[in-house]
Amino acid sequence: MGYLHAALQDVLTDEELKRLPRGFERIGHIAIISLPHELLHRSQDVAQALLNLKGVRTVAFREGKISGCDRRPGLRVITGDPLTETIHRENGCTFKLDVVQVMFSSGNLYERGRLPKLVEQGEIVVDLFAGVGQFSIPIAKHARPSRVYAVELSPVAYGYLCENVRVNRVGHIVRPLLGDCAEVVPRAVADRVIMGILHVTHRYLSLALEALKPSGGVIHYHESVPSKLRFERPVKRVLEAAAGREVEILHKRVVKRYAPGVDHVVVDARIGPSRA
Ligand SMILES: C[S@@+](CC[C@H](N)C(=O)[O-])C[C@H]1O[C@@H](n2cnc3c(N)ncnc32)[C@H](O)[C@@H]1O
Repeated sequence: MGYLHAALQDVLTDEELKRLPRGFERIGHIAIISLPHELLHRSQDVAQALLNLKGVRTVAFREGKISGCDRRPGLRVITGDPLTETIHRENGCTFKLDVVQVMFSSGNLYERGRLPKLVEQGEIVVDLFAGVGQFSIPIAKHARPSRVYAVELSPVAYGYLCENVRVNRVGHIVRPLLGDCAEVVPRAVADRVIMGILHVTHRYLSLALEALKPSGGVIHYHESVPSKLRFERPVKRVLEAAAGREVEILHKRVVKRYAPGVDHVVVDARIGPSRA
């Protein structure tokens, strides 16, 4: 039995317990949960149970969709400290962020641990949608790239990215770039390009290929896709964007369930030399 069910088994009815989510997220001192509509009258009981957890000072509910091109999460603080800026530690990295203003997905934890293991010494990495440094920071801390270009459009996320580069002492490796990746990303430099965004990723595939060295390299292509087309659609899109360049699919995995019937997947693909 999960923590919440155990904590609330004498408080909620059996019917309510059935609807209670099994999981919740922890980002720094903040616990975040999505409550179904039918349990909203129990908000305070659920929030209090979460507040009883060691280290939790704030409870927020996830409401509505992640919105805007800066992917702002829809969160509302329900109880506790109203401060939503926090320090989150994982995999030996420190991330400062405001959970109301920038996206930080607990479901991507494995992916944040996986990428640094793939990066070889001296590589140049381009992180097209860097956020607060979710991929750039662990790569710089745990692998030995010569440079990571971390591109971020939102000034708020960029501010945290710069601060995270400083507190993790990776300023000699990570170069944060503020702006639309289509405009500011360096071309023909990268051994590896990370495409950590959903919904619009395919529009940036040709840009990712332009960022790679002419000799080619690896892309990490993320996509939200109907489960039925789980790997078929992303692989097809990568092949189309490669436009005849050699493509080797190195790895594909479901990162998390994004919504009912929709998966967040990642495809790692090695793109061969450019023909130009
Ligand atoms: C969903 S977050 C993901 C952060 C991180 N890559 C991850 O996967 O955890 C996507 C980030 O991309 C940024 N973004 C969106 N469009 C962008 C663009 N055209 N150029 C650069 N950054 C962009 C957003 O502001 C946001 O911080």
